[in-house]
Amino acid sequence: MNTLITYATLTGNTKKVAQSIYDIVKDNKQIICLNENKNIDTNNFDTIIIGYWVDKGHMDNVSKKFLKNLKNKNIALFGTLGADPNSDHGKNVQAKVNKLCSENNNCIGSFLCQGKVDPKLVEKMGKFPLNLVHPLTPERLARIEEASKHPNHDDLEKAQKYFLQILD
Ligand SMILES: Cc1cc2nc3c(=O)[nH]c(=O)nc-3n(C[C@H](O)[C@H](O)[C@H](O)COP(=O)(O)O)c2cc1C
Repeated sequence: MNTLITYATLTGNTKKVAQSIYDIVKDNKQIICLNENKNIDTNNFDTIIIGYWVDKGHMDNVSKKFLKNLKNKNIALFGTLGADPNSDHGKNVQAKVNKLCSENNNCIGSFLCQGKVDPKLVEKMGKFPLNLVHPLTPERLARIEEASKHPNHDDLEKAQKYFLQILD
């Protein structure tokens, strides 16, 4: 069995989760950052694990482009996002991404974990025009504060357990 793990990242959260999943994969394995590698030959891989970060309610564009070029593969997904993965927003994102994955491939799993939000984005949310769309309400500030603690040790352990189970 050959397993490929890819990830896209802006601030490192998704890379952390990718690395922890890579550590527990027992097959022949390779890990690739999609931001740095554009032409990836996926022919020799039986399973592909795609790690994305959530950008405006969907999979980031780099991961989306990679996924859209895959056909008839066994694919497992993991993503990081600022919101609580169990919130309506989290469930909605996961459903959309799973659907996209299942269009041309066999989606064998999907995992979400919270990740700290880029402080530069938080600063923008406090100013026009983003303050009109995402005002820094006490609730949003509390969510951002909680997100700043993730991915933590527990999240990485959960990701490892999840992938050990689905790859078994
Ligand atoms: C431009 C931008 C858009 C984002 N959009 C969302 C979003 O729609 N929902 C969400 O929960 N988090 C959103 N986030 C937060 C990121 O998904 C989260 O911080 C993620 O863990 C970043 O991963 P990375 O560190 O691998 O880049 C956004 C962050 C940025 C910078």
